[in-house]
Amino acid sequence: MVSLQIGVCSTQAKASNIKGPHRTRKLMEIKQINMDSSHLSKLIEGPKESNNTKAYSSKYLFCLFLLLCSPCLNFFFISRALFQSPELSWSSRAATEAEAVAALSCSGHGSAFVDGILVDGKHVCECNACYRGQDCSEFVQGCAADAESGDPLFLEPYWRQHAASSAVVVAGWHRMSYQTDGDYFISIELERHIRRLHSHVGNAITDGRFIVFGAGSTQLINAAVHALSPNSSASSPASVVASVPYYTVYRTQTEFFNSRAYEWKGVTSKMGGEVAANFIEFVTSPNNPDGRLQQPVLQGSSVIYDHAYYWPHFSAVKAPADGDLMLFTISKLTGHAGSRFGWAIVKDEGVYRRMLSYLGINTMGVSRDTHLRSLKLLKAMLAEERGAAGSIFGFAFSTMRERWHKLNKLVSSSDRFSLQQMRPEYCSYFGKIRDPSPAYAWLKCEKEEDRNCHAVLRAGGIISRAGYKFGADNRYARLSLIRSQDDFDLLMQRMGALVTKEKARNM
Ligand SMILES: Cc1ncc(COP(=O)(O)O)c(C=O)c1O
Repeated sequence: MVSLQIGVCSTQAKASNIKGPHRTRKLMEIKQINMDSSHLSKLIEGPKESNNTKAYSSKYLFCLFLLLCSPCLNFFFISRALFQSPELSWSSRAATEAEAVAALSCSGHGSAFVDGILVDGKHVCECNACYRGQDCSEFVQGCAADAESGDPLFLEPYWRQHAASSAVVVAGWHRMSYQTDGDYFISIELERHIRRLHSHVGNAITDGRFIVFGAGSTQLINAAVHALSPNSSASSPASVVASVPYYTVYRTQTEFFNSRAYEWKGVTSKMGGEVAANFIEFVTSPNNPDGRLQQPVLQGSSVIYDHAYYWPHFSAVKAPADGDLMLFTISKLTGHAGSRFGWAIVKDEGVYRRMLSYLGINTMGVSRDTHLRSLKLLKAMLAEERGAAGSIFGFAFSTMRERWHKLNKLVSSSDRFSLQQMRPEYCSYFGKIRDPSPAYAWLKCEKEEDRNCHAVLRAGGIISRAGYKFGADNRYARLSLIRSQDDFDLLMQRMGALVTKEKARNM
């Protein structure tokens, strides 16, 4: 109707500019148009109401409109007041900066960080190892695949997707004190969430146990050795041992700290069933580097169970671990190796107190900022649906399974290399039989002449960790599968080239 009226008005305006007999003819044409349009509007609107009825119904409609508007407006304002976050004040600048830095595009091959170096006063991308350029989009030709360290960056994409639930705002005055709300430099809420997490996953018993925090489990390794060693100078030093292949740091730390209370005595296989009093045995389960679930070898020894990898990401959860002294770390759980947070679960109060005194003298506990971040991460994980595909356990397991599957398939097609044997196992966390998903590949060079597997790989453009570092033969080398997707993709590419070259040579 509106366009029809506009059409009529503009036709009349045009007619007023026309003079003489043309004007009379034009006016008649306009009348015709008006008649047609009013006829048309009748057809569209139906018969017109009387003036009274019209006034009454428009008043009625207006009242109805007001009646409907009032509760709607009330609802709008009340819900706004209840649910809208209050205006941010001191945190808004920091939040804006954090979001601006996070929004910088680094082509998926790098990241910009709030505390990164500024170039011309602006944040810039820090590129992954084999990429460069302003936005990390240029691949560095011939770059070696880094599969050396256990840097757990495979979890970074998960946290990028969960930026909101894991972000932490730290005020300048946040927990400045040496003290925390709990005793012995421990945050009560964080300790409570650690216990909740273990009971949710079912991988460790914490009821009636003491919990000690450390700057990564690296700090707790020596704290545990100290606590289990004899505290009298009259006793002979404790012998610290582990089974081959073992995580290097047990040896390097024990040798480095060089205490009169303990000494590195090498590998369990050399003990020949020795009675194990005054022995401290490291049992890493699942093992780094070969992913096996392990038990102590010596009977009667004090055992330090290192369960860094006993999470659904890397292993079937068989039963809640119940060792006297167990180590865990956030590094391999959430991937936040840089936060340096680990914890020990301890049965005996005397051992617990000796660990506390070590940590008190050594660092006076873990950074309170790390407490805050770790708590936030655990809360985000615990809020998720158990075992769901998008949850951290679902994501981590499927990523690791896929990586192991790809590498295993490739290596199986070669005579030159082999991998540790792993089979599907029942996992109580997922409630089903699951495929293997180890954190590391323990690669063996099978050819007689390939005595130094690390060197063979290095020649093929792959950086591995040599077997001797794990107390093992150099025919073995460890490949880390927990690094970034870029690192893993390049590892597959370089391994693929090595396997293809070998096949061509055999033809
Ligand atoms: C078996 C084992 N224990 C402990 C650690 C140390 O972890 P954190 O980062 O907590 O010091 C690692 C790290 O790779 C490890 O593989």
